Amino acid sequence: MSNYISVAIDGPSGAGKSTIARAIAEKLGYIYVDTGAIYRTVGLAAQHAGIGSKDAAAVVALLPELCIDIAYDSEGVQRMLLNGRDVSAEIRTPTSSIYASDVSAIPEVRAFLMDMQRNLAISHDVIMDGRDIGTVVLPNADVKIFMTATAEVRAQRRFLELRQKGMETPYEEILRDIQYRDSQDSTRAAAPLKPAEDAVHLDTSELGFDACVDAVAKLIAERTGR
Ligand code: DC
Repeated sequence: MSNYISVAIDGPSGAGKSTIARAIAEKLGYIYVDTGAIYRTVGLAAQHAGIGSKDAAAVVALLPELCIDIAYDSEGVQRMLLNGRDVSAEIRTPTSSIYASDVSAIPEVRAFLMDMQRNLAISHDVIMDGRDIGTVVLPNADVKIFMTATAEVRAQRRFLELRQKGMETPYEEILRDIQYRDSQDSTRAAAPLKPAEDAVHLDTSELGFDACVDAVAKLIAERTGR
């Protein structure tokens, strides 16, 4: 048992997990771990190696060559390093989203990344977001939240986020990608996206940012007394 507090936030992409978790981490002095970024980094490595994202044998063969690290910059923002190189921006393209979803369905990839995720929670108060944090990675988390929003709301949010970064991707394409990933992430055999039995459900479709942060902070205070 660790003396540190762990908060698990799971849910489909675009539900608001990372934005809310980052704000909570800042408010409470926890570290924020975006586990999707770790899967995205494996996906990017496969992409760079010219491996098809569904070629499980080739992806698994690549794993021993990968050195994946999480670092935090001076503002506490998580950076992903692949073989020593910062790939935090490169892992955010629509192609890398599909790659991440595909490689994350491979059980060996999930096993390869397990210790890295668990070790972070052993040594810090942590708020970690992903798909299987409350069910598999941190089954004893102090607080578990399953965050959702409709696919259309999530696609619209992603559209605006990408536009802000100067990437013009058609809304319909983003919605299709989200529906593809929702379906694949929740129907795969290895650690599918599903709420932990003891997770609190939070639908953010019609909740503003402040209301979401307040709801999560209140829950953490109730459960941990802090
Ligand atoms: O959270 P995200 O959209 O950046 O995640 C990218 C992909 O990684 C997502 O399609 C599913 C996968 N993923 C996962 O399988 N398990 C996690 N804990 C986090 C992400």
